[in-house]
Amino acid sequence: MSLDIRMELTKNPKAKPQDESKLGFGKIFTDHMFMMDYEEGKGWYDLRIVPYGPIAIDPASTVLHYGAEIFEGMKAYRRVDGSIAMFRPDENGKRMNNSAERLCLPEIDPEMWLEILDTLVKLEKDWVPHSEGTSLYIRPFTFGNDPHLGVHAVHHSTFVCILSPVGAYYAEGINPVKIAIESDDVRAVRGGTGYAKCGGNYAASLRAGKRAEEKGFTQVLWLDGVERKYIEEVGSMNVMFKINDEIVTPKLTGSVLPGITRKSCIELLKSQGANVSERLISVDELVEAAENGSLQEAWGTGTAAVVSPVGWLSYQGKEYEIGGGKIGETTQHLYDTLTGIQWGKIPDTFGWIHPVC
Ligand code: COI
Repeated sequence: MSLDIRMELTKNPKAKPQDESKLGFGKIFTDHMFMMDYEEGKGWYDLRIVPYGPIAIDPASTVLHYGAEIFEGMKAYRRVDGSIAMFRPDENGKRMNNSAERLCLPEIDPEMWLEILDTLVKLEKDWVPHSEGTSLYIRPFTFGNDPHLGVHAVHHSTFVCILSPVGAYYAEGINPVKIAIESDDVRAVRGGTGYAKCGGNYAASLRAGKRAEEKGFTQVLWLDGVERKYIEEVGSMNVMFKINDEIVTPKLTGSVLPGITRKSCIELLKSQGANVSERLISVDELVEAAENGSLQEAWGTGTAAVVSPVGWLSYQGKEYEIGGGKIGETTQHLYDTLTGIQWGKIPDTFGWIHPVC
């Protein structure tokens, strides 16, 4: 496929961040962004790369009233041989289309998806940071853009992709975070939009996240929305535990996000002969394991979070320390192997790396 992308390049390129240790997450954006519009019956049109900046939206637009929005999160890495590559962007494309189907937003052809990402990342390649632990975060999103207030599936949409040089998602970096198990608010229910990557899921999570932060926790761990009994996921990542040498992660019941880092960790661990199960994990089982010492490790997985150790969990006013509040061996192994493959320090025997330039 060779797309017809109109190029409007900036006349005022921004200075690139000098001190990459201060990048943080999603605060700085590159010079350009990709945009295209969609109309039912016509498809995607007016593909363009334009200077990064505010976009005009009709005040009656569907996204502003009914939250018709989906997004993805992925990264481009500067590898040790100097090349730039993405990690499993085809998987993000598939998930984006599954989210689109759920929210009645238009899907994007897989080849078109890759060509858009390749073109934009290649143009902005000098923005991919150089330091260890940094990358160029890619945030594609589609929103419903019909300028009227009836509650219907949309006929007009806009797709945008922005890029941001990033460091670690958490201020803690690779040091263990403190997570509060949330027993009041729920993030998603089966049959709802939990498996889709849509803005509304994150909007629903903000109140509990704010309360947890006020109490000194980094994020919350969600329980299922029906029985409030089974572990689902953390605010911005999936979660895994090592209990009695078994690695367990909540199974994808429909209300859990099918994370690509989650999937990669499972595939990696299984290929190395580890005992991994995707199953229901009740909060009672987890608390019991924390109390009797069989909970050896806990960590989160996500594009932004990479592999992040969880050192403390709190539930109903009680706090449990995991692995002495230190990163465990499986967590460290996953972090080292995944980032090693991404940065080109370890051979990619899985075919996960997508070279850009
Ligand atoms: C990601 O890991 O890319 C995410 O989308 C999580 C987030 C909402 C920051």
